[in-house]
Amino acid sequence: MADRSLEPNQKPGLTRRTFLGTTLAGGAALFAGGSDVIFGAASSAAPTMATNPTLQLGGDLTVNRLGFGAMRITGEGIWGWPPDRQNAIKVLRRAVELGVNLIDTADAYGPETSELLIAEALHPYPKGLVIATKGGLTRPGRSQWVPDGRPEHLKQAVEMSLKRLRLERIDLYQLHTIDPKVPMEASLGALKQMQDAGKIRHVGLSNVNPTEIVRARKILPIVSVQNEYNIEDRKSEKALAYCEREGLGFMPWFPIGGGRGLKPENALERAARDHDVSVVQVALAWLLERSPVMLPIPGTSSVVHLEENVAAAKLKLTPAEWKAIDALAGHG
Ligand SMILES: NC(=O)c1ccc[n+]([C@@H]2O[C@H](COP(=O)([O-])OP(=O)(O)OC[C@H]3O[C@@H](n4cnc5c(N)ncnc54)[C@H](OP(=O)(O)O)[C@@H]3O)[C@@H](O)[C@H]2O)c1
Repeated sequence: MADRSLEPNQKPGLTRRTFLGTTLAGGAALFAGGSDVIFGAASSAAPTMATNPTLQLGGDLTVNRLGFGAMRITGEGIWGWPPDRQNAIKVLRRAVELGVNLIDTADAYGPETSELLIAEALHPYPKGLVIATKGGLTRPGRSQWVPDGRPEHLKQAVEMSLKRLRLERIDLYQLHTIDPKVPMEASLGALKQMQDAGKIRHVGLSNVNPTEIVRARKILPIVSVQNEYNIEDRKSEKALAYCEREGLGFMPWFPIGGGRGLKPENALERAARDHDVSVVQVALAWLLERSPVMLPIPGTSSVVHLEENVAAAKLKLTPAEWKAIDALAGHG
């Protein structure tokens, strides 16, 4: 689970909610064309063809439903600085220009470099931009991803992320993973202290199952869950259903298959051909229509790929196309 399953050197194989939203963020040109408003728990009945362009996290953060994952703007192996730092800066600025107003990152990406690049590219941050960072997974070495959910570590991690991101308060702080050596109650208790101190606005979870989400919500309010989920990998179907029912945001990581990409599948390719778009765009459109609480965070180091991914928010699949793609579950 988690980032530990990364295969960062591999390239994609294919040319490849607690209440919900109200308005489009300013400048979100590529998201224009919809103003549907849905409200969390009441919206959970239909699992298909969601159309709301925005999602409200924690009752007060309205975000466009296609975010940006800032893991890929670091060096090879999600380690160190990227080979072309100016390009990483361009990608981040272009994401915001295109209307993306949620950027997912973590102290572990680089480590530190993803957060530092975000601040370098975007600070002072435009109004409404949500930086969602994470802590609790450390990087002792290039290919190492080691959980550390000790309260003292997490409190220090929050302080360091605040500094790197040049923020006084982090809008969304996610526990990257549950540390099997530390009771979740202790880890989340530390984040609650940081929230009470005004250093965190909302708290999210990552790499969790519904039982863990229920346990976490006994400690403090949880506004989002970030788990692996894409057309081929639906192990988190129950967590998604829980989020939909309870109105928590669900951020699928590896939304387009991660470094491995998605396998070529007829239904995907047919829809891509019929709409004259890429398979990646179809995969993102399928996710967006899958649930009103879905907030994909595709990652890229390329402006061209970023533009293509953001444009997918405009793509509408027909019900037949959506169903044919949905039927690909488990083919991965
Ligand atoms: N919570 C966790 O444990 C966890 C784990 C993993 C990731 N995440 C988060 O989830 C985000 C997304 O995950 P991810 O970046 O690993 O996987 P992803 O978004 O599924 O895929 C990214 C890969 O696809 C390529 N790509 C992106 N857009 C493309 C396009 N339009 N056409 C062709 N290839 C394209 C990228 O390469 P190029 O750079 O060449 O475009 C990169 O290799 C991360 O950035 C991170 O914020 C969280």
